[in-house]
Amino acid sequence: MPKESLTVTDNRTGKQYEIAISNDSIRAADFKQIRFKADDQGLVTYDPALTNTATCTSRITYIDGNKGILRYRGYPIEELAEKSTYLETAYLIVKGELPDARHLAMWRHNITLHTMVHENIKKFMDGFRYDAHPMGILVSTIGALSTFYPDAKNIHDLESRRLQTRRLIGKVPTLAAWAYRRLRGLPFNLPDNELSYAGNFLKMLFRMTERDYKPNPVLERALDVLFVLHADHEQNCSTNAVRAVASSQVDPYSAVAAGVAALYGPLHGGANEAVVRMLQEIGSIEHVPEAIKRFKAGDGRLMGFGHRVYRNYDPRGKIIKKLAYEVFEVTGKNPLIDIALELERIALEDEYFVSRKLYPNVDFYSGIIYQAMGFPVELFPVLFAIPRTSGWLAQWAELVRDPEQKITRPRQLYVGSEERHWSPLEGRSEPEMREEAVSDKI
Ligand code: CMC
Repeated sequence: MPKESLTVTDNRTGKQYEIAISNDSIRAADFKQIRFKADDQGLVTYDPALTNTATCTSRITYIDGNKGILRYRGYPIEELAEKSTYLETAYLIVKGELPDARHLAMWRHNITLHTMVHENIKKFMDGFRYDAHPMGILVSTIGALSTFYPDAKNIHDLESRRLQTRRLIGKVPTLAAWAYRRLRGLPFNLPDNELSYAGNFLKMLFRMTERDYKPNPVLERALDVLFVLHADHEQNCSTNAVRAVASSQVDPYSAVAAGVAALYGPLHGGANEAVVRMLQEIGSIEHVPEAIKRFKAGDGRLMGFGHRVYRNYDPRGKIIKKLAYEVFEVTGKNPLIDIALELERIALEDEYFVSRKLYPNVDFYSGIIYQAMGFPVELFPVLFAIPRTSGWLAQWAELVRDPEQKITRPRQLYVGSEERHWSPLEGRSEPEMREEAVSDKI
């Protein structure tokens, strides 16, 4: 049997160290013992953007980026997208097992019990500028929920954690729909608990004067599938934000608000919005080769392509591409799909994208579906945040229960000035003349 360890020789001192390997990983803290001088702090591992650092153990989501595999609690995403519903998948993600019929009914009841939000939230929303982006509103209103539920501070209490989880999964669609209605200057629709999770959301968004709004079943199912696909994705930027913020033992509303803020960025959940804007800018198939040339020259990125983990087709992207055509049966074809298909065709044959293993990710086709379904682009990242809430909460609960976790506090490599001393104003040189001030663009 080969030994499960690593022998490290520090060539500065000639000393050897044995570092244990477990789960194909080594503990960064084991390098602390490697010192050059008796009083130095020992070696640290340097990993900007955490590209090769595991920050937790997790039982929730498994990804094999080289093979294009994604599983929630062991179940392949393809099976869940085809056979499950979002609420059932959320149960699986949060609780670890698929529910039986009784537990699913109870879960559904417990979530829908919490779809209403406090009336003060409406006043709070009124304070935003008339054109406020719904993601900005969502960050703030989710954070604000902590002030309505001070009991959420009891993060070590299982019942409290369960309650906040149901509240958040129940309320996020309402907050999201109201943020959209506000942007459109339309009155808010109250939740309808007779409808499915996705159906209720569609009604809160789109009901106008109809007394009896019925969501189109194809679009309702398509949205539910999109929710399933977005429910969790292990340690991505927003989940890492949720975990880092929650590690201070703050309430889950504040931690999830941090996740929504991280998701808002164009390199993460904002990418689907960026894809549609990019496709609109490209405008027609004839302009695709020119656009590809620009992206290769570093003038912008081919949005919706590339992934930190997938070096293969993102399995969610495959499902979404197929789903797009089912949606188009109802909505009519979104002409942007032709530009997207041509971009994909050329990129997948191009050495630049092939050699970097850049494939379409989940966002490449999702925006096109959302647009065909009548969602404005500002709502796209919101449509990501709603289902991801269950993933964030499962990750939060896992963190809280993990005895190995502590407050997140990374190290840094200080490369700034040595100690220096204050001098009177008249004796100082112009600050912008200093090399580091120029290079830092301060
Ligand atoms: N278009 C053109 N070049 C790209 C792209 C792209 N979309 N993505 C990566 N590259 C190049 C990049 O310039 C670099 O080239 P070089 O080695 O010559 O410097 C190389 O590929 C590696 O890129 P990276 O930035 O080091 O890769 P990363 O793992 O840090 O970034 C990413 C991953 C998703 C941020 C990036 O691929 C990207 O910006 N994609 C476009 C935005 C996007 O679609 N984001 C959605 C991600 S999926 C949804 C989610 O889970 O949030």
